[in-house]
Amino acid sequence: MTSELLIPLHVKYIQSLDNHKDDLAYHLTTHLRINGIYWGLTSLCIMGHQDALPREEMIDFVMSCWDEKAGAFGPHPDHDAHLLSTLSAIQILATQKALDRIDVKRVTDFLLSLQTASGVFAGDRFGETDTRFTYCAVNALSLLGQLGKLEGDRKERAIEHIKQCRNFDGGFGSSVGAESHAGQIFVCVAALAILDRLEEVDVPTLAWWLSERQLPNGGLNGRPEKLEDVCYSFWVLSAMAILDKVTWIDAEKLTSFILSAQDTEGGGIADRPGDMVDVFHTHFGVAGLSLLGYPGLEDLDPVYCMPAKLIEEMGLRKQWTALERRKLP
Ligand code: FPP
Ligand code: ZN
Repeated sequence: MTSELLIPLHVKYIQSLDNHKDDLAYHLTTHLRINGIYWGLTSLCIMGHQDALPREEMIDFVMSCWDEKAGAFGPHPDHDAHLLSTLSAIQILATQKALDRIDVKRVTDFLLSLQTASGVFAGDRFGETDTRFTYCAVNALSLLGQLGKLEGDRKERAIEHIKQCRNFDGGFGSSVGAESHAGQIFVCVAALAILDRLEEVDVPTLAWWLSERQLPNGGLNGRPEKLEDVCYSFWVLSAMAILDKVTWIDAEKLTSFILSAQDTEGGGIADRPGDMVDVFHTHFGVAGLSLLGYPGLEDLDPVYCMPAKLIEEMGLRKQWTALERRKLP
């Protein structure tokens, strides 16, 4: 087990992901390709190596995922547009300071077209709804400077749906009546943060539930009775960061758990020690360490899951915590 973050090895691991185009696994995950680039790029930024992947090539790839018929981005060239891949495309272009490549009007229309009568968003034209998609739409509109298009009835319906997904334990589920799940809690709390409605969160109850996610080995799980998993270092901690409750987690134990899931030879971070690494868990492990203030890492914005410096520059950084908001007149 190693006691430090192996940054040069992780940078190499992320760079190497582009060289596996002959692997079956590469082709089996085309539906996630653009998300993978967002995860790789963001973790590189947090580790201080944004330039480790070629900028122009990346922007060209994102633009090749444009679905002209839908007016948004798919996860891979010739795939249908989806909210998840559209958010990743916008996050990548924002990070690369290339948002001017986007047809903002068309993407905004696409995003707004996916809001349903109950206020929740569908992921694509096929209509599956989930609180994840509300977060994706709200985040994407905010990054594009188009959040104003959601003012009034649309905004109230989106918030009302999130409120209906709130449970007795302070958490949130994927749909009305669904059990609390740390991933869904992140998307609901972060969406409320962007929409300036954190007062809808029952902070003490939710912070208690989130702090209960830490297991004796230091890792966090996503729900009671589940195994610890490195990605929950982000899903749980980001919500706690937004609520200003990161100190309710034992940071030293969680840091050791994340570091113990590193592949000390090939680089990358796995879901738990000894498992195969992947770019998703590498990103969320690094993200968790950043939220814990690990030395040498850039700050991550917990709401947008992007470099805090960039979100600040874009004028989107939230300065107030939920509790401070409650004290306002
Ligand atoms: C756990 O998933 C995570 C979630 C349900 C939240 C996912 C959020 C998004 C896709 C929105 C985009 C996110 C960012 C950071 C921009 P899982 O399927 O691993 O859950 P399981 O552990 O229960 O299997
Ligand atoms: Zn995981």
